[in-house]
Amino acid sequence: MSNSSEAELLHTFKGIPFTTRSSPELLKSLDAFDAREDDVLLVSYPKSGTHWLAGVITKLYNTQVTITSPIEFGDISRLEELNKLSSKRIIPTHLDYNMLPLNFKKKECKMIYISRNPKDTAVSMFHYYRDNPNLPTVDTWTAFFDLFLKGNVVCGSWFDHFLSWEEHEDEKNILFLFYEDMKKDLPKVVKEIALFLSLNVSDNDIQDICKKSSFSEMKSDTEKENSDPSHTVCALTSNRKLIFRKGAVGDWKNYFTPKQNIKFQEIFNEKMKLSKM
Ligand code: A3P
Repeated sequence: MSNSSEAELLHTFKGIPFTTRSSPELLKSLDAFDAREDDVLLVSYPKSGTHWLAGVITKLYNTQVTITSPIEFGDISRLEELNKLSSKRIIPTHLDYNMLPLNFKKKECKMIYISRNPKDTAVSMFHYYRDNPNLPTVDTWTAFFDLFLKGNVVCGSWFDHFLSWEEHEDEKNILFLFYEDMKKDLPKVVKEIALFLSLNVSDNDIQDICKKSSFSEMKSDTEKENSDPSHTVCALTSNRKLIFRKGAVGDWKNYFTPKQNIKFQEIFNEKMKLSKM
């Protein structure tokens, strides 16, 4: 990466770059994490629409649920805090499937994986790198494009992350969602989530949830809230104001050169040749 402070901001665990907001001790202890059968995991590669999905899910539950901090965030004491929570837990994470604490798999906890066109994800992440002081600086889009394709970015390769989860797509406790589907028909996706979580929600409530989850509503709520530090579901920042940038499909077209697009497509085709995507 292109910046001298990289060593202070990142460390590598099992070959994947993490920020120092995830301590190595915490990452090493994750396998001992005490999952509960009614935990719901909210899983994503960064910049895939995690906060949008989290917003929808909190509005869907009318009982007491807690969206916790991401499981990979903080030091080892966070695990104890999560264990002490008495309410139902919605637990966000950017971990790939192989790193997920074993107990979530054994207990067949419900997991929702949200994915997004990797080209838009790359552009969104480029801006995150520029704006987020917890990430190393990148000077240019060209430099970031190369890092992203090599998987030399925080949370590692988009392809590896996606494929690690896609392998489990057909398991009954895992729901796969796409950002683009949420943009196209949010009520349909919200109904799908409600069904998956066994929640009874009326059509009126669905309409209301969708209205309150629009990009403009969520962005302006955040501006009003004055960035509550416990309010992000991304281990890479506590500043919610960094999350709501443009909220569009196809922004990659404003960044990718024709040459970059060809290169991306070649690598995509190669890496994803066994994928159903
Ligand atoms: P952009 O940077 O392309 O705008 P995450 O929550 O995983 O960090 O993802 C952030 C991305 O989701 C950002 O993309 C953000 O603008 C977008 N996003 C957040 N809330 C959204 C919403 N309600 N509708 C559409 N996009 C949203």
